[in-house]
Amino acid sequence: MTDHVLIFDTTLRDGEQSPGATMTHSEKLEIAEMLDDMGVDIIEAGFPIASEGDFKAVSEIAQRSKDAQICGLSRANFKDIDRCWEAVKHSARPRIHTFIGTSPLHRAIPNLDMDQMAERIHDCVTHARNLCDNVQWSSMDATRTEWDFLKRTVDIAIKAGASTINIPDTVGYTEPVESADLIKRLIQEVDGADTVIFSTHCHNDLGMATANSLAAVAGGARQIECTINGLGERAGNTALEEVVMAMRVRKDIMPYGTRIDTTKIMNISRRVSTVSGFPVQFNKAIVGKNAFAHESGIHQDGMLKNRETFEVMRPEDVGLSGTSLPLGKHSGRAALRDKLEKLGVEMGDNELKDIFVRFKDLADRKKEVFDEDLIALIRQNDGTDDHLKLKDLTVICGMNGPQKATMVLEIDGDDKTVQATGDGPVDATFNAVKQLFPHGARLQLYQVHAVTEGTDAQATVSVRMEEEGRIATGESADTDTVVASAKAYINALNRLIVRREQTSVGYDEKAVSYKDTGK
Ligand code: KIV
Ligand code: ZN
Repeated sequence: MTDHVLIFDTTLRDGEQSPGATMTHSEKLEIAEMLDDMGVDIIEAGFPIASEGDFKAVSEIAQRSKDAQICGLSRANFKDIDRCWEAVKHSARPRIHTFIGTSPLHRAIPNLDMDQMAERIHDCVTHARNLCDNVQWSSMDATRTEWDFLKRTVDIAIKAGASTINIPDTVGYTEPVESADLIKRLIQEVDGADTVIFSTHCHNDLGMATANSLAAVAGGARQIECTINGLGERAGNTALEEVVMAMRVRKDIMPYGTRIDTTKIMNISRRVSTVSGFPVQFNKAIVGKNAFAHESGIHQDGMLKNRETFEVMRPEDVGLSGTSLPLGKHSGRAALRDKLEKLGVEMGDNELKDIFVRFKDLADRKKEVFDEDLIALIRQNDGTDDHLKLKDLTVICGMNGPQKATMVLEIDGDDKTVQATGDGPVDATFNAVKQLFPHGARLQLYQVHAVTEGTDAQATVSVRMEEEGRIATGESADTDTVVASAKAYINALNRLIVRREQTSVGYDEKAVSYKDTGK
C-alpha cells in the first residue's frame, strides 16, 4: 500500500528569495512549465505583493498552468491576501498561502500578543477562505513556537477553513525525531486534524532538511515543500530531488508515492542552476556532477561486474544518459538532436538551429564535444533580451604587463569600443566593461572550473556582483577562459539591470524580514 505525498515546489518563491537567485519573467514561466510537466502537485509561483514583477509572474503562471495547483504567498493581512488572490485566481486550481511568524521572536516583529495574533489568524484565514476554497496556513517558525500556542494557531486555522496546515522549520533548527513528533502530536491533539493535509517546510541550516522532511512524513505529513537543487534562503530548502528519490529508492521503509517523473530531474536541475546563477555542488546528492561518477579502480571494477555494487539508483532514473559518446565537427543536426533528447533536453526547430550553430563553432575549436560541453552550451542564454552584449574581445597577455584588452560592447543596440589595461587579462577585460558601462557594482565572487579534461576544455566561469544590496550572478562557458569571464561578468550586469528595473510595491526588500504592514 502506498500513500500519496504531495510535492509542493517553492523554487520560484523561497528559492528565488535567495540573495542573487533572481530570475527574469520568461525564466520563471519556463521553470513553472517544467515543474508542471514533471508532475509537481503545487507550484508556489511567487509573492504577489512583493513587486509588480512577482505579481505578473504569478498571474501568468496561473493562466498557463496545466495540472499543477498554483499558489501565491501572502502575509497575514487583507491587502496581501487580496493581491495574492488577484494573481492566482486565473489558475484552474488556485491556492492562497498565508502565514505569520508565531514564535516569541517572530511575534515581537508586529508586536502582537498571543490573543491578538490568534484573532489575526482567524480573520485572515476566514478572509482568504471567502475568496478561495483552497487555503494553506503556515505558522512560521513553528519549530520554535511554544507547543500550546502552536496548537492553538493550527486549531484556529482549521476552524477558519484552511485545508492545508504547514509547519515550517524556518531557521533549520529541528532534527528528525522532533520533526516527526511535532506532526504526530498535532494530528493527535488538534480537533479536525483528520480533515486537513499537514505539510512540512524545512530549511537546511544544519544540513537536516531532507531528513527532517522525510521524518515529518513518517509522523503523518502528506505534503513536502521543497525546491529544485535545494535552492533557497541561507543554506537553502529541502531539495525536491532528494526527498523524491529517497522515497522511491527506499519504498520498502517509506511506502509513499509521488506524481514526479524522475527522469525529468536532471534537466530541470541544470536549468534552475543556469537561470538562478547558483552552480550545483559537484558532490550534491542526485544532481551533482559526481553523483554517479566512479573514479577509483575498485569501484569501477565492481560497477562493471554489477552496477548495484556501488549504485542505489540508475543514472537513467534521474534523466542522465547511460553512455557518453562525444560528438565532433562532422556530426550533423540529427546526431545533435538525438544526443540532446538523450540528455532530456527538448527543443523546437528554431532553438535547435541556434544550438547547432553554436555547437559547430565549438566543435571547430574543440576536437570532441562531450555531454558536459553541450550542457554548458545550452546553459548560456541566447542574449536576445540583454542590454549589454559582447561583440568582440582581443587581449594581449605576457610576462611584462600591464595586460591590454580591446573590447567592442553593444549597449542597447549601439556598438562601443574601448582599450583598457589591468593587472592580468581578466582584470583588463573587466576594466574595459567598466569603462564602456560605468557602474558601482562590486565583484563578490569569481570562479573558474574546467567543464571536461584536456587543455582544450571549456572553462565555466561564475561571478557574483553586488550593487546597493542587490545581488546578481552570471555564468558562461568558452574554450577561452578570458572570453568566458567577460561573458559571465556581462551576464551578471544584465541581471543587475533587470533587478534595478523591478520596482517594489509596499515592500522593502525581497530578502524578506517579513515586516508586518497590518490589515
Ligand atoms: O521558511 C518559512 O517559514 C517560509 C514561510 C513563508 C512558509 O518560507
Ligand atoms: Zn522557507
